[in-house]
Amino acid sequence: MKIIESKKALKDEIQKLKTQGKIIGFVPTMGALHRGHLSLIGASNKTCDITVSSIFVNPTQFNDKEDYNKYPRTFETDMKMLEEANCDIVFMPSLEEMYPEPDSREFDFGTLAEVMEGAHRPGHFNGVAQIVSKLFDAVPAHKAFFGQKDFQQYVIIKEMARQLNYDIDIIPCPIIRENTGLAMSSRNQRLTGFEKEKASNISKILTWAKENYKTYSISELKDNVEKQFADIEELDLEYFEIVEDESLKIIQNWDSKENIVACVAIFCGKVRLIDNIVFNL
Ligand code: PAJ
Repeated sequence: MKIIESKKALKDEIQKLKTQGKIIGFVPTMGALHRGHLSLIGASNKTCDITVSSIFVNPTQFNDKEDYNKYPRTFETDMKMLEEANCDIVFMPSLEEMYPEPDSREFDFGTLAEVMEGAHRPGHFNGVAQIVSKLFDAVPAHKAFFGQKDFQQYVIIKEMARQLNYDIDIIPCPIIRENTGLAMSSRNQRLTGFEKEKASNISKILTWAKENYKTYSISELKDNVEKQFADIEELDLEYFEIVEDESLKIIQNWDSKENIVACVAIFCGKVRLIDNIVFNL
């Protein structure tokens, strides 16, 4: 496994592999890796000849400085995990390498960025788009793999790739969960054992909503779900929204022609967690 720190060296390496006819897969991450990340490496290995992963904790997407400072950084175990997962190249740029000067680009994702994470984390998706476009420039891959755990991020990155004409297929990958149902997340490391146990109710309540939604109106279902979360003292719900999977429009009735995704953001103690479930495929 090669570790590369400069954009120029990485781009040269990838161009060389491309001229040899290799299909390149790319998995961007912020490190503190877990099985969710590794599933993306696995998906890339399955359909690509070379898998490149990046580790960069991107300051411009954190709207909370403390969250950025506290973001877990676990370099040594990350390298071991990537090596074992058969990643070929790891891109580990410094802050100066990615932001030699401040990035003042303002993206317009319209209504896609106005709901859910976009509404609760101002500037977050602009920061994500800034770094992912810089990473796509440094890693001119054929395919890039994103987890559906961050469902809105996946939709927005698809839109960014369309707007900026990137010739990269954006591939969604399923959410990987702990045995308890808790969606894997780097932030889970900050939960106590007790909090983790309580946080496992998030997926249980989402699954209940998926299994029962047709017997309720949307507002009844939302009320019911909100009440279930309110009954668990350690969980503090930020939003529960039911949206169309492409437009991310909040739906008004169950007649929607698109698939429906129920998305949640919730604080468990001081840690903010997100999760979602697709109602109908
Ligand atoms: P990070 O949170 O490290 O996630 C990297 C990728 O792993 C994302 O595509 C995310 O959706 C996916 N992922 C995380 N947990 C997952 C799980 N439980 N199951 C499946 N996939 C999972 O998302 C980011 O980093 C950043 O915003 C980034 C795109 C790297 C830009 O900085």
